[in-house]
Amino acid sequence: MAATKESDNLDEQFYRSAEAFFKSYSHIGLTYDDVTLATLYSEILPQDTQLGTTLAEGLSLNIPVISSDMDTVTESRMAIAMALSGALGLIHYNMPAREQLSEVSRVKNHVHGLIQEPIRATPDQLIGDMLGLIEKKRFAFSTFPVVDSQGKLLGLLPGHVVKLRYAKRKVAEALTPRAQVHTLNKKELGRDPIAAADRFFTDHPGIHKLLVVDDQDRLAGLFTMSDVERITQERNAQFKPARDSSFRLLCGAAVSTTRNAFGALDCQPILAHVSALVERGLDVVAVSTAHGHTRGVGETVRMLREAFPTLPIIAGNVTSAAAVEFLANCGANAIKVGQGPGSICTTRIVAGVGIPQLTALYVAAQAARKRRVTLIADGGITKSGDIVKALTLAEAVMCGGIFAGCPEAPGEVIEISGKLYKQYRGMGSLAAMKAGSVARYGHTADPTRKLAPEGVEALKEVSGSVDHVLAQLIGGIQSGMGYLGAANLSQLRQKARFIRVSPAGQREAAPHDVVELKTGS
Ligand code: XMP
Repeated sequence: MAATKESDNLDEQFYRSAEAFFKSYSHIGLTYDDVTLATLYSEILPQDTQLGTTLAEGLSLNIPVISSDMDTVTESRMAIAMALSGALGLIHYNMPAREQLSEVSRVKNHVHGLIQEPIRATPDQLIGDMLGLIEKKRFAFSTFPVVDSQGKLLGLLPGHVVKLRYAKRKVAEALTPRAQVHTLNKKELGRDPIAAADRFFTDHPGIHKLLVVDDQDRLAGLFTMSDVERITQERNAQFKPARDSSFRLLCGAAVSTTRNAFGALDCQPILAHVSALVERGLDVVAVSTAHGHTRGVGETVRMLREAFPTLPIIAGNVTSAAAVEFLANCGANAIKVGQGPGSICTTRIVAGVGIPQLTALYVAAQAARKRRVTLIADGGITKSGDIVKALTLAEAVMCGGIFAGCPEAPGEVIEISGKLYKQYRGMGSLAAMKAGSVARYGHTADPTRKLAPEGVEALKEVSGSVDHVLAQLIGGIQSGMGYLGAANLSQLRQKARFIRVSPAGQREAAPHDVVELKTGS
C-alpha cells in the first residue's frame, strides 16, 4: 500500500538511509547492536527471497556466508559442508603448503554422497576383529568392502555374518566374493553421481550398498542407499550447492604475506604455491592479514593479479575507504572489512586500533561502490540479525565463532563438567602464531622474539552440523528481508533504513522479564 507524502516524510526523519544515518553519526563508531532496521511495506514472503551474491566475476555464492580461514574453523570438511549448502569455506594456511594443497583437492574432488575412504576389511582379519572395531569406533554399520594389500576389491563382508558366533572365522571365509558383488566403475558415475547411484539402487532391489571401483578394480568409494535417498530429497531444497563450471564444489584458500630472511616478500614461494592451488581447481585466493593497507599485502595482491589475471582475489583486512581503494588498485576483487570485531580478537585492546564494524563497513562501502569491488564483513557476527545488518553494506559475511562448534570444524570434542566443547582460537593467539600464522600479524617467525598476541584461545560449545547452523542463519536473513520488502540482496542494500538504539532499546530487543526455557535455536 502506497504511503502518503506526509507519513513518508515522518518516517524519513526517524528511519534514515545508510548515507543519511552514518553521516549523522560520523563522530562515533557503531556496530551491529547499536542500530536496528526499520520495517517497510512488503509484498515479499521470506521463503521467496533470493540470497545469491556475486563477489567477483566467476565467484558467485547461493548464500552470502563464508567460513573464516582459521585453524579451528576451516579445513576441507568445513569447506565441503559450506559449499554443499551454497556458501564458501576458506581453507586456512596454518599448515604446511603441501597439506593445504591436499585440503583443496579434497574439496574439489568431493563427490557428495560417495564415501571416498570407506572402512575396509582384509581377508586375513577375523570377524571378531571387525566386531571389536565396530564397538571401539561406535560404527552404526557392519558391512565392509574387503580389499587386498593393493586396495583391489576382493568382495564384500555382509552385515549378517558380522556376528559374535562367527568371531573366530576369517573374513576370507565369510565374504561375498568379488564376482557376486555389484559395482560401478568411477567413470560410469558421470556428472551426476547421485543420479547414477539412485538408478543403480532402483535397478537392484534389495541392494543397499554400492561399491565404486577404478579401472584396476581398486576400491574407489561406496554409496549407501540411505545417503542417496536423503540427498535426492534435499535436491529440492531452495539453496543449491556452490559449484564451479565443472560441477565441482567451490573452494577458497588463504595465503599469507610471508617474508624471507632478508625481510623481503617471499615472491617465488607464494607464486608457486598459488599456482599449485589453482592447478587443483582453487576458485578464490584470499590474501589474509590483520592489516591489509600495507605495502606487503599490496605487493602480494599485485603480484597475484599479474600472474593470475582471472583468479578472484580477496584481500584484507581493512576498515577505511583509502585501504579499499588501495587494494582495489592492486587488483583485489573482494575486500574483507574487520579489525578487532571477532569474538576471539584482542586487537583493539592490545594495539588500541580497530573500528566498530558497522561504521567500518559504511566507510569502506563508499569506496567499494566507486571502485566496483565487493565487501565481506568479517568478524563479530553472533546472530542472524547481525548478518542482515551487515548485508545492508556488504556482499557477504565471514564468520568463525558461529561455525567453530560444528562437527565439521577441525579439532576434538572436549568434555567439561558434562558439557561438550571444541577449541576455538584467534589466529593471532600465541598458540596459533607459534603454529605458523605470525605473518598475518606482521611479526617475523624469529623464535627469539617475543610475540604480542592479538587473540585468545577459547572454547565453543558443540553445536549442530553446518547445514543446521546455516539453516537457522538463512531463516533469519530471509525474515529480515521479508520485513524490509527486499526480494534480493541488492534490494536489501537499497531499502535499508537505520535508527540508533539506546541501551534500554538493546535490552528490549532480547528476551526480558521471563525465565527462558529454550533459546529457540
Ligand atoms: P568471529 O567473531 O566470527 O570472528 O569469531 C572471526 C574473525 O576474526 C578474525 N580473527 C582475529 N582477529 N585476532 C584478531 O584481532 C585474532 O587472533 C584473530 N583470529 C581471527 C578473522 O578476521 C576471522 O574471520
